[in-house]
Amino acid sequence: MRVLVTGGAGFVGSVVAERLLGDGHNVIILDNLRQGHRGAIPSGGEFMLADICELPALDDAFQRFRVDAVMHMAAETAVEYSMNDPRRYFQNNIVGGVNLLNTMLKHDVYRLVFSSSAAVYGDPQTVPVGEDHPASPINAYGETKLMFERILEWYGNAYGLKHISLRYFNAAGATDGQGEDHRPETHLIPNVLKAALDRTPVSIFGTDYPTRDGSCLRDYVHVLDIAQAHMLALGRLDSLGSRVYNLGNEQGYSVLEVVETAKRVTGVNISSLIYPRRSGDAAVLVASSNRARSELGWIPQFPGLESIVESAWRWMREHPQGYGDSG
Ligand code: UFG
Repeated sequence: MRVLVTGGAGFVGSVVAERLLGDGHNVIILDNLRQGHRGAIPSGGEFMLADICELPALDDAFQRFRVDAVMHMAAETAVEYSMNDPRRYFQNNIVGGVNLLNTMLKHDVYRLVFSSSAAVYGDPQTVPVGEDHPASPINAYGETKLMFERILEWYGNAYGLKHISLRYFNAAGATDGQGEDHRPETHLIPNVLKAALDRTPVSIFGTDYPTRDGSCLRDYVHVLDIAQAHMLALGRLDSLGSRVYNLGNEQGYSVLEVVETAKRVTGVNISSLIYPRRSGDAAVLVASSNRARSELGWIPQFPGLESIVESAWRWMREHPQGYGDSG
């Protein structure tokens, strides 16, 4: 298939693009390189520097490449910033997303895999959280992901768009060539590992949550396992049509446990500074991923936190400047 990957120069997008290429698909990567990196783009695909908020550029991409399916990852993703600057999130995640859908329809493209998020659940009432748990976001980022899932439903019903939304829990880890390099970095695992590398303290945002040690619990999932779920979703789009899946390992680790794991993996006695809660954070987000396992046949290959942290640490030591100045 000819697959267009929006956000294909980003953390998850670049790994998904590489998997697609490895499986023999033709890949067109569309990225504005505001958060993505030129150095993350796998070789063998087409690259188009473009923004989903610019309709003519999108139109041009679909005109130049005969696209069979789209994997839509381009988005604003940091929970924290969505609380103080939500307009960027609504602009890119909703306006840009609707531009993409309308351009797909214009060019008769009816297959989409969407990168959604566990953030749609807000502060879940029960964990592990299944897809039928009520969605009630507590940050603007999660709100945009839920809104877009709903927009997909309407486009599915009205125009026959086939869509699968994958609700990632905490994407983490690295491949040999691709890792996490957000600027600024807001995510826990790269920040803890950077602290180990630089021998600086890591910031802990809140130790007064109703959890076993007071810090937030998250379900970390390896980026390669997320990429695998995309391949399975692509293969099942035509038969499944419209479906939502959680992607997580069904195991929650606290922020403090992640720091302890990073100490073991790196051999560095990482120190911490405790700060107040970060705005928009849920106390606990742990997946039930039964549906992805039974319907897609998804079996995570790297479910353990230690192996996730090890892979991220390997990548960070080999790329202490991340992707450098590559864009
Ligand atoms: N944290 C720290 N210190 C840091 C960074 C993070 O204590 O330096 C804490 C956060 O406050 C939070 C936890 O570590 O409690 C995890 O934070 P991340 O920023 O790593 O990840 P989030 O859970 O905020 O968000 C991630 C993705 C979202 C996705 C969500 C789903 O960025 O896109 O997981 O669980 F929606």
